[in-house]
Amino acid sequence: MSLKEAARAVRENAHAPYSNFKVGAALRARSGAVFVGCNVENVAYPEGTCAEAGAIAAMVAAGETEITEAYVIAGSPTPVSPCGGCRQKLAEFAAADVPVTMATTSGVEQRTTVGALLPGEFNADHLGG
Ligand code: THU
Repeated sequence: MSLKEAARAVRENAHAPYSNFKVGAALRARSGAVFVGCNVENVAYPEGTCAEAGAIAAMVAAGETEITEAYVIAGSPTPVSPCGGCRQKLAEFAAADVPVTMATTSGVEQRTTVGALLPGEFNADHLGG
């Protein structure tokens, strides 16, 4: 299954009764395996999690730590842009040149990279002291 198909399918499972904004994310990991996630909201609003976070958690739980491609889709008027926190989460497991496709359910796609989404990310070098 393509990342596009995987992201579109998992989006249907999003739990988004508060925002009514369903998001699906699909990641390809180094092995070639695809991991998916959807946003999971909570009545205590800050406890909700983004689609990208779910997909990353599934990837790491399966023993993989390297993203080679990402795809995010929502029913937004323009291709959905990962939030700031998710950009940092993606950068943890993806090189700057890893492609990210942002999409709308109506079929518009915009391609970018993890590095373009988060220039100057906080990284392990900053911990060096
Ligand atoms: N959301 C995601 O899951 N990923 C994004 O890239 C943008 C926002 C979710 C969070 C919340 O459940 C809903 O979309 C509205 O912000």
